[in-house]
Amino acid sequence: MGLADWFKKDVLTPPFEELHGATLFHESMKNLDTDFHKMANEALEAHDNFGIPIALREFRDLFNGIQSVTYCCGGSGDDAAARAIVKAFPHIKCTVLVDPKMMIGTKSSDDGLISYVAGDMLNFIPPAQTVVLKFVLHFLTDEDCAKILAQCRKAIPSRKDGGKVIIADIVIDYNSPGPMLEAQLLVDIGFMTMTKGRQRDENEWRQIFKNAGFTDYKLLKKFGARSVFEVYP
Ligand SMILES: C[S@@+](CC[C@H](N)C(=O)[O-])C[C@H]1O[C@@H](n2cnc3c(N)ncnc32)[C@H](O)[C@@H]1O
Repeated sequence: MGLADWFKKDVLTPPFEELHGATLFHESMKNLDTDFHKMANEALEAHDNFGIPIALREFRDLFNGIQSVTYCCGGSGDDAAARAIVKAFPHIKCTVLVDPKMMIGTKSSDDGLISYVAGDMLNFIPPAQTVVLKFVLHFLTDEDCAKILAQCRKAIPSRKDGGKVIIADIVIDYNSPGPMLEAQLLVDIGFMTMTKGRQRDENEWRQIFKNAGFTDYKLLKKFGARSVFEVYP
């Protein structure tokens, strides 16, 4: 990846973007390096197909009493995680927000289980009782996280009406056993080189929630290197 040369440059662009012209998973990667982009998305889907059923079992209470969910954001429009949620909780109405550059307007999956809405999550998130951000914020700067969380607040009702944001992401925990802390830090290094984002510890997450005007949060059981937050308006 030309890291040695990159260190000598006076740039803020991550090395992956310097080399490929876009960050990991950015929609323009589809044209810049079709094979790589396809592989990255297949890896994400494999990760979800394996991990989501386990996560839904471990965190079953998360969706109790929830009638509607907006899932941010679907890659190909056929998102494994959103599908797993509606299969496990058939009463939940699920909308997947898709980058407008990948889709125009609104459509439904062939089986009608999911609605897809095109929108830029920095500017709009379709209203629902709960917004799910799974591995979204760790791609992004603190400023963009604040913008997206502000949109989440607009999209959900008050806490007494069941409004909450569910965030699945890496939480660096310096007290984790050695190999688990190594896994968290490796994701951090990977994302610093491939995206504009970073991994955060609980204090950094708390500050991000507070800056976006959320009043409270719960850090649910850790799940390998990943954790789940419930964040309340
Ligand atoms: C790696 S995925 C995020 C992970 C995804 N939530 C999941 O769990 O599978 C990144 C996706 O976000 C989409 N995306 C990036 N910026 C966006 C934006 N501003 N609004 C909506 N979608 C966006 C990209 O098109 C890409 O499909």
